[in-house]
Parts: sequence; structure tokens; C-alpha cells
Amino acid sequence: MFSESILCNWDPEPFREALSRAGYTRQGLEAADLYRPGDAVARTHLAPKLLPADSSLLTAIRLFDLGEPVSGKDAMALFGSNLLGLMRIGLLEGLGNDLVRSAAKIDATEQGWFAFDHAAALVAAKPDYVMGEGNSSRMLTALATGRKGERVLDLGAGAGWGALRLAERGCRVTAADISARALGFARFNVLLAGLDDIEIVQGDRFEPVAGRKFDAIASNPPFVISPQNTFVFRDGGVKGDGFCESLVRRFPDYLEEGGIAVMIFNWFDEDPERWDERPLAWAKDRGCDVWLFRSDRHDPAEYAFRWLRESGRGRNPKPEDLNEWTRYYRELGAKGINLGFLAMRKRTGKNWQRSDSRAEVKVVATAGEEIRRIFDNQTWLNECGLDDAAILAMRFKVPDGIRAETDMVLDRGWGMRTIRLRSSGQLSYDGQVDEFILRLLEVCRSGGTPGDQLKEILAKPEFAGTKGVDGQIASLVREMVRHGLLLPAL
Ligand SMILES: C[S@@+](CC[C@H](N)C(=O)[O-])C[C@H]1O[C@@H](n2cnc3c(N)ncnc32)[C@H](O)[C@@H]1O
Repeated sequence: MFSESILCNWDPEPFREALSRAGYTRQGLEAADLYRPGDAVARTHLAPKLLPADSSLLTAIRLFDLGEPVSGKDAMALFGSNLLGLMRIGLLEGLGNDLVRSAAKIDATEQGWFAFDHAAALVAAKPDYVMGEGNSSRMLTALATGRKGERVLDLGAGAGWGALRLAERGCRVTAADISARALGFARFNVLLAGLDDIEIVQGDRFEPVAGRKFDAIASNPPFVISPQNTFVFRDGGVKGDGFCESLVRRFPDYLEEGGIAVMIFNWFDEDPERWDERPLAWAKDRGCDVWLFRSDRHDPAEYAFRWLRESGRGRNPKPEDLNEWTRYYRELGAKGINLGFLAMRKRTGKNWQRSDSRAEVKVVATAGEEIRRIFDNQTWLNECGLDDAAILAMRFKVPDGIRAETDMVLDRGWGMRTIRLRSSGQLSYDGQVDEFILRLLEVCRSGGTPGDQLKEILAKPEFAGTKGVDGQIASLVREMVRHGLLLPAL
């Protein structure tokens, strides 16, 4: 479906108008109480109860959300004479008996419409099932470092969620994928979004971009570690985490100097204490600084259970499948499976590697900027060669959007229990701090130096004459720089 030669003559405007007129938009669904802000999924299953039988919104929901057939009369009422065009491009198909159905699911998202496969294709284990905007798609979009005007490769672009979001930022995007079917959806989505300047190329991994270099690469590859090779979106077809390893080893060849590749992935460890060892080894000596970030670690049996359930649309996995998966992990020597991302920046010079682990990571749209800060700041820390006195005399910038949340408890009066500090993208820092750190950020933000805070502290009677405060503040500054909360004002 969605062949390039047919789509190139398709005008999406009447289709967009029909969907908008029917109210099949995020706002329209909210107005009809079929989507409540904050809900993870729409309440569109209630549509047949809440909407009149002849409503165009109900027809759109049945076609594009519930995946149900509708009558030719209802489809005509929704699309008028454009119905034939939608059949010609393969979006709608006739079933006989005057019934019509949609070959694609189309979500009405906050960012606009997005087409992919109905869940029935997943349940039927269709190998070329094309996924929609999942958590990993949204996560990658937030982490991607591409800025306006930069050339960005979305490797394993699928139906194009990330490519679209990057194009909206003004990036010059190349969307690459092995699946012709996924790229058909991507073409359709690009047209539907009215963004026609995304390059779409097909092939295995880097094959379609051989010899080219990018300012940024973003990849949400088929990262699931499994004994199966059932789905092209999920299983890379290489043993263990070998598919992701093959990408990490080759990212540097496709990056410009200063370019950053970010990949969401899963990897196994052979020892919980050495969880970061294998991915860091893949990326070693390749002319890149490397940041490995772990957000979770699963026991192999738990991992197998989760993925088998996910691919079976919530049904409990069969014991024989669970056995097959856990036996596979034993044979690999996997003690645990880690979830997270790896970022690498190409840089001539003495490269560094770093790993961090933090649970419950929910990054927001500006996380890619925080990845850039981590690369800049870690390099500065390694190379600045400044002693404590020089650090205290320096000026630092504080990025916008840092938040502190306090938790207080009422005893006789209000007492502060904890202060939680979050970087704007919630990636580089999210943890408990004390009032000294809050004050340090405030002093730096208002143009002062860490040395000014030192004077302030030593002026307090309870600290007068205390030794070592200067060293403590300097190491606090280094720690804040490490987390991208203070930026050297060079
Ligand atoms: C997890 S999906 C991600 C889709 C999309 N980027 C997103 O975030 O929603 C992985 C994608 O990788 C593609 N893929 C699988 N094997 C590939 C290969 N050898 N080369 C390029 N892409 C591949 C799949 O077709 C699928 O679209």
C-alpha cells in the first residue's frame, strides 16, 4: 500500500478538510469528550454510545481508530467525491456488500494526524507490521539533538514520527528504513502533514546513505533482545543485542565533526556491577565522546514476559514461549537486560566515556539540548585544568527552565523534608539537593561567582572560621557542571 508513484499525484488537502470538518482532530475528540487531557489513550471506544449514528465523526473514528468497516453511504457523507481518490491510493478499500474500511489506523494526535497499522496486524503477527507513535518514538524525538538547518538522519524511521518532529524543528531530515511498507506510511504521513521536504530512502541500516555525513543521527532501532525474528520493527535479526552493536560501531563513519548520534536501545549484561561495559566497548576508539544512560534494568524472565505480552496485545504469554526466551538469555550469558540510550559525539581530541543510571526517567522535548550540554561540559571539565581557586573565581551561566520542588511537612510549623531539582529536559539532572545548591545556582544566575557564595557562607556566625568550605563549593560546582546545570561562561 501507499506506493510512491501513486502517492505523488495525491492531493491531501480534501482529506485533511474532511477529517477537520468531521472533528477528527485531537481538539475535536476532546470537545466530544472522547479524549481527556492527561489520558494515555483516547476513549473512542465510547463513540458509538456518545455520538449519533449518522455522525461523520463516528464514521471517521470507526474507520481510522477502531478499524471497523462503514457503509459506502457513510463514507460518501464523510468524503464526498474524494472517496474514489482515497481508494485509489490504497487508504480505503471496498469489502463488497457496500462496506468500506481503512487499511491504516490514523491517530489524531496533538501534533496532527499520524498513520500506521491497525493493531489487528500485530495480533496476526504480520512480520511487516508498522508501529505507531509509541513511548520509544516520543522518547527519541525528545532526545534527538538536531537543530534548525542541521542535516539529520532518522535511522529506522518507520512511519516517520521522529522524522516529522525533526522537520518541524527545521532540520533537513533523511528518513531511512529497510521496510518499504513502513516508508509508504512515512510518505503518506509526510504528505498529510504538509511537510514535503523530508528525504525518504530504503535499505539495510546505513546502506542507503553510504558515503554521506550528518550533523545528527537519531535511531529507535529494532532493539528487542529475543530468540525470535517475527517483526521487522522489533527484532533486528541479529543474535542478542548485535543489531544495536552494529549501529554503534558504524555511527562515527556517518557523523560530521561535532555531530551527535543518539540511539534508544536494550543491552544485556553478564554481571550487574558491569552493566555499562559492553556498549562502552563497542564505542571505544572510534573518535567519539560517549554517554551511556540507563533508565532501567530487567531480570531476563521479567523482560521476556513484558515483551511477549506487549506483542500479544496484553494477553499473557504462553509458558513454552517464556521458556524459549529465558533459555535464550541463559545461552547468551545475560544476567540482566538494560534499557536506556547511548549518545556519541564525534570529536577530534582525547575522547572520554561516561555512564549514568537513573530510574523513572521521563524526558521532555528539550532533552536533546541537555545531551549537547553534557558533551560540552564533560569535555570542559576534563580539559580546563582549573584548580579550586580558579573555579571559585569563574562565572557560570545557568540554563533556563530549572525547577525545584519542595516537600514540606507540618509539625509545629512547616518543616522542609526534601528539595527535588530538575533540569528543564528532566534528563541531565533530577534528584534531591540541599539549600546550598539552590543558592549556588541563584548566585551564578544573578551574575555572581561561586566565590561570592563562599563569602556569604563564611560571613554567617555558625560557619566563621570553618575550613574546607572552598573545596566543598568547588566540587559542588564541578558536579553541577557535570550535570549541565552550570555552564562555564567562556
Ligand atoms: C522500533 S521501530 C521505530 C520506528 C520509528 N522510528 C519510531 O520511533 O516510531 C524500528 C524501525 O527500524 C526498522 N528496521 C528494522 N530493521 C532495519 C534495518 N536492517 N535497517 C533499517 N531499518 C530497519 C523497522 O522497519 C522499524 O521501522
